[in-house]
Amino acid sequence: MSDLKLSIDNSNIPQHVAVIMDGNGRWAKTKGMPRIFGHKNGVNAVKEICESCAELGIKHLTLYAFSTENWNRPMNEVSALMSLLVETVKKEIKTLNDNNIRLNAIGEISKLPAKTYKALMDGIANTAENSGLNLHLALNYSSRWEILNAVKNLSKDVRDGRIEADSIDEDVFEKFLATSGIPDPDLLIRTSGEMRISNYLLWQIAYTELVFFDVFWPDFKKDNLYAAIIEYQKRQRRYGKTGDQISPSGVLLS
Ligand code: FPP
Repeated sequence: MSDLKLSIDNSNIPQHVAVIMDGNGRWAKTKGMPRIFGHKNGVNAVKEICESCAELGIKHLTLYAFSTENWNRPMNEVSALMSLLVETVKKEIKTLNDNNIRLNAIGEISKLPAKTYKALMDGIANTAENSGLNLHLALNYSSRWEILNAVKNLSKDVRDGRIEADSIDEDVFEKFLATSGIPDPDLLIRTSGEMRISNYLLWQIAYTELVFFDVFWPDFKKDNLYAAIIEYQKRQRRYGKTGDQISPSGVLLS
């Protein structure tokens, strides 16, 4: 077993890990290959992280697979990414089931190409009974879209008298987000050396621990995840409180 894996404190595993898988294009460029070669190899890293999250007992993994802004990429890259998604979801259903992983999607998925939408829906239906890791793919997702969408739907409920404006609090608002029912990420990982959030889970990461890696996504390995978790376990999560108000195990005392 990896030395890093042995150093993980199993009593303090993050329940939700979110990832910005960045650097596929640059990885391909270093090899003199087209960008889609990077995305194809990015799928291997997706498999590595899913397998290791499942092994560690992490309950939720959210991967930023296609942002609302990614539609602005060259058309050939967008369609290659959509085909790769179809191909990967179809091919990996058995592996998802073997590993008890439940597939889900967040984002405006009804606007995805019909083939992508169908493959995704089939994948979600075919893994719905699994009870281990929940794998959420953020597809045609951006936080500003999500927040505006929540505001629109919430406004309709207020207009039609289903919700009192004064009763809107965090719990009510969260029910209108794409991540409703999913706990906020404990840990957010971004690869490729960029230190940005790029319109990802802005509401949900209010108190998330951020870990950045210099490696491009296709080079992300299990040991990188273990290293991120070890770093996470060194952090004291204070949620606005003082260090003295937190017990050594990280539990809020008052
Ligand atoms: C960012 O790298 C990566 C993406 C926008 C797409 C991620 C997709 C995959 C890893 C493959 C399919 C995924 C699943 C879940 C089956 P980039 O292209 O922005 O790289 P760059 O910053 O170097 O240009």
